[in-house]
Amino acid sequence: MLDAIKRLREKLSLGRGGNSGKPVVEAASIDEVVKMELREMRSALETSIEAKLLRLSVTYKPVKTYSIEDPWARVIILRHKDTGEYLYYVNEVELNRDEKIIYNRIMDILTWELRHPTEEELRRMPGVSLAEKEKEFLVRQIKRIVNIYRIKMASEIEGVSWGKILYYMIRNNVGYGDIDVLIKDEYLEDISCDGVGRPIYVWHQEYESIPTNIIFNDERELDHIILMLAHKSGKHISVAFPILDATLPEGHRVAATFRKEISTKGSTFTIRKFKNRPLSIVDLILGGTLTPQIAAYLWILAEYRMPGMIMGVTGSGKTTTLNAIATLLRPNIKIVTIEDTPELRIPHENWVQLVSRPSYSVTGESIGEITLYDLVRVSLRYRPDVIIVGEVRGEEAYVLFQALATGHGGLTTIHSETIEAMIKRLTSPPMNIPLGYIPLLKFALAVKRIRMPDPTSKSGYSIARRVTDVWEIAGEHDYIQVARWNPFTKEHEHRFENSVVLDEISQLTGFTREEVMDELERRATVLTWMAKTGIKEFRNVAPLIFKYYYDPSSVYNRAIRELKM
Ligand SMILES: Nc1ncnc2c1ncn2[C@@H]1O[C@H](COP(=O)(O)OP(=O)(O)OP(=O)(O)O)[C@@H](O)[C@H]1O
Ligand SMILES: [Mg+2]
Repeated sequence: MLDAIKRLREKLSLGRGGNSGKPVVEAASIDEVVKMELREMRSALETSIEAKLLRLSVTYKPVKTYSIEDPWARVIILRHKDTGEYLYYVNEVELNRDEKIIYNRIMDILTWELRHPTEEELRRMPGVSLAEKEKEFLVRQIKRIVNIYRIKMASEIEGVSWGKILYYMIRNNVGYGDIDVLIKDEYLEDISCDGVGRPIYVWHQEYESIPTNIIFNDERELDHIILMLAHKSGKHISVAFPILDATLPEGHRVAATFRKEISTKGSTFTIRKFKNRPLSIVDLILGGTLTPQIAAYLWILAEYRMPGMIMGVTGSGKTTTLNAIATLLRPNIKIVTIEDTPELRIPHENWVQLVSRPSYSVTGESIGEITLYDLVRVSLRYRPDVIIVGEVRGEEAYVLFQALATGHGGLTTIHSETIEAMIKRLTSPPMNIPLGYIPLLKFALAVKRIRMPDPTSKSGYSIARRVTDVWEIAGEHDYIQVARWNPFTKEHEHRFENSVVLDEISQLTGFTREEVMDELERRATVLTWMAKTGIKEFRNVAPLIFKYYYDPSSVYNRAIRELKM
């Protein structure tokens, strides 16, 4: 390797330094160099990507291409010409031989030079969370080291792209290495690896579950990724403790198994991606998940802290819907959320977020575990107006229902498909809720992933999320459907006139039933206005919902005015 470097140096001294022999870009920073380089390189990169595509085009047809980090990494969705199957193709630039040598050299230096930031340095880093600040510090360190090395090598070696080297340095040291593109791709909801020699599968928002061209053929490579995931989430995984259940710094949820201890095909992992921007209630309306009327109905129920449950299968959108509904709660109430991994993000100031903790079992004896059950119990001491449990599975459900019985508000989700299945689960072990407690829940809604005809999509359909049923629970065996998704007309239907919960609210407030319905319509108008005028970002929606609580007419009048324009 040293020889190669020497060769490079020699090449360099004959390099393009001009008459003076001085390197042209010595003074420039690595960022400037990359910028300059990009101008020249972009078309070369395009050509190499085109060439790759041409090779693939014998069997595949590209159906969608997008950049993840322009121009270094892009994704191409390919469709097999015969079978019609899709392939998620990660296309990254490749380091040439010289670049690989330099890359390895800089990696050596980095290992020596990398240090922890001081508190003062961290404070000065841009970014909101500690993880973001640490990341930024690392990126700067890498840039600095690459820059020093580049200048030491007199700045320019023909055919070497510092941009590419920097891309790989950051991808492998700050990012997620071979799966970095997948982590960054906003279209992906899930990433899963079932073992060595098998393609990683992703759940793509437009193409559902599809294989990728990323395969770990070597057990060590896969183990390395798993250890990295454990390390990044501040947890431990090993042959002795072969299960990982953790949260990555960006909020993604990761589960993994190590080697062949418990999974026959060796290490496995699955990552549920965390959306940077939580979907707001207006996003859900715009995506057709629910109508402004259903949202307005939920808003009124939220205002009066009516307990509710969201049901659906894995990945159907339970947590997302729960989060959007939680935003509709009154701004000044006290909320405690309880989760296994911190996924919920709500705008309320008086919010305590509790997260369970698995046991430490270093000596073989499990200690220190804090379960959802413990948290629900302790949450009652906080005197919350509303308790939100991310998902109920076990005995914590029982405590939650006790809390509902003593007048607390509550929202949660459950893994079930129908209301009957939901009640069966709730009343069976390990939850064991007495049937008599079930009507403490005022409403239950079902969310599903469904196929919708889509002429713009190659497959003729696309996947959409729909609130398929909104039930009110009037008695132990008495459920009233107030809204549903009609699979034939592909539209939501409302039956709010059947609502007993709105009757209850009318009794509670002294507003007539008609007045309550008028209020529902007014809120639906406000939500329609937000959807039509593009006020959908979580951070913009929340303040307007809050404002409506203390000054409804100004928000409503603005909505009417702007809807007329
Ligand atoms: N209504 C929606 N519209 C668009 N995307 C959605 C919607 N609901 C959820 N998603 C996306 O689907 C993925 C899974 O959503 P979510 O985590 O809410 O599901 P879940 O049912 O809680 O899953 P799990 O069973 O794993 O807890 C996320 O990437 C989320 O952004
Ligand atoms: Mg969830």
